Amino acid sequence: MLNGTSTANQIIWRSQVSPGEQTLMDRNCHKSLNYSMIITGANPEYMHPLRNGLGIIGPVDFSEIQSEKLYKMAALTNSTYDGVCYYTHYVQECLKNVEILHFDEAWYAYAKFHEIYEKHYGMSLPPGNKLVFCSQSTHKLLTAFSQASMIHVRLPRYLSNSAEARENFHDLFNESYMMHGSTSPQYSMVASLEVATKMMLDNGDVVFDEIIKEAIELRRKIAWAQEDLAEQKDWFFKIWQPPCIAERNENREPKISIEKLAKDQTYWTIKPAKPGETTWHGFAVKDEYAMLDPIKLTFICPGIDINGNMDDAGIPAAIVTNYLIDKGIVCEKTDYYSWLLLNSAGTTKGKQGTLVAELFKFKELYDSKALLADVFPDLVAKYPEKYQGKSLKDHCHEMHDYIKKHKLLENMREAFEARPINDITPAEAYRCIIKQEVESVELRDINPDGATPRIAGVMLVPYPPGIPIMMGGEKFDLYAGDILKYLIARQDFENEFPGYESDIHGIERTAPDEEGNKYFKTLLIKN
Ligand SMILES: Cc1ncc(COP(=O)(O)O)c(C=O)c1O
Repeated sequence: MLNGTSTANQIIWRSQVSPGEQTLMDRNCHKSLNYSMIITGANPEYMHPLRNGLGIIGPVDFSEIQSEKLYKMAALTNSTYDGVCYYTHYVQECLKNVEILHFDEAWYAYAKFHEIYEKHYGMSLPPGNKLVFCSQSTHKLLTAFSQASMIHVRLPRYLSNSAEARENFHDLFNESYMMHGSTSPQYSMVASLEVATKMMLDNGDVVFDEIIKEAIELRRKIAWAQEDLAEQKDWFFKIWQPPCIAERNENREPKISIEKLAKDQTYWTIKPAKPGETTWHGFAVKDEYAMLDPIKLTFICPGIDINGNMDDAGIPAAIVTNYLIDKGIVCEKTDYYSWLLLNSAGTTKGKQGTLVAELFKFKELYDSKALLADVFPDLVAKYPEKYQGKSLKDHCHEMHDYIKKHKLLENMREAFEARPINDITPAEAYRCIIKQEVESVELRDINPDGATPRIAGVMLVPYPPGIPIMMGGEKFDLYAGDILKYLIARQDFENEFPGYESDIHGIERTAPDEEGNKYFKTLLIKN
């Protein structure tokens, strides 16, 4: 299908969910799923992902879900933005009380083609009692043209066993599919799906075996560089991964071969901590039901540990990824102290080499206190009063000190732990927009303690981490006090560090005041 997984998600939801039906939604979902709730009129409850001290998003904690309640459909992001993939057979067990499962596998269309992902993707579920959907962006990590995606459907046995029932399902589903299609399809895009399919059919296992092995090689290169430098009391970036991936024996040879690591998923699973133990992943999982995808590489900057304890000095990731972008290396996601890169089809050894070389170059510029004007000339030219005369090292430390002093990571954790209460459904909030019953209000003017709490008109999604912090229809009351506090902290951060504005879906900025400060505003439902 065309128009991306954004539309695939809406087709799936529109085909199954009626207004007012109880549904479960991953809070770590793409915004298209929030729009799916608007167009279907669903009544959502949320599944909240775990989070570690670095702010990396882990799997959903299924123990929070009410097991006695019935839900029409549940959508889970698989893999998550940080490369955490679910053991889907376990998920099916946990979501017994959900009629239909939907795995949003926008970044994960290759899973079927390699044994390392066995039983960790939606279509690996054997036919059972549930209808299962997967939506995949064939254009993201396979080779189709942009916006060319696929919807996969696993029918429950009671439908798949009868030709008539199968045909009936198809006809009904097709209504939703047709509703979202243009009558002027771009056939080259459709053909690109066929080409991507054929490429994977003929060669997918070989291609992905190579990609996985090369990702492991890169993981080791970074981990060993960091270990070797740490022995000399020097620093380098780390890779977030199980320690066994880069373990070496006394002769400094790898303990586990790349072949084994690329074959056996047990090396990559996210296991619960033993009493008193600190895990490599930092998630408080109660069971073993997720693994890290070897090809999704999270790099960690100095300045913080897995539990979120901050050192005196540190390097915020936004500075490193801005540097990499200037060198033509695009990161998928930047958090406060980590960033994500994908080792995918087209990531050649040459490109990996460029990345490693640029990271060492960054280290050299930092250690030698290179002038910021030489590293980021455009930034300094635009904001000379803030950055002129400073070194890259000063700049990193100043930002690190600010993040530490203002407890931005702690604020973020508290904000995402808040459970805002919805006053009206996302669809009802959207209707207020159509009727112009909304107004733009500065966040600093919202009083969460007020007698009549204000209600969000639109979802608010800060990047990083790209998870909705507030949904349309939810109340800015005391339950959401930490959310407001965090958003205002981000506003103040942006005013302190011009040039580091980040994207927050649902937030507009005021025109600058006489000191150049801008303030966040959002759409609220009129009281
Ligand atoms: C989890 C997830 N789902 C859906 C989408 C939307 O996919 P598309 O860009 O194909 O519309 C994205 C896009 O980034 C995504 O990350």
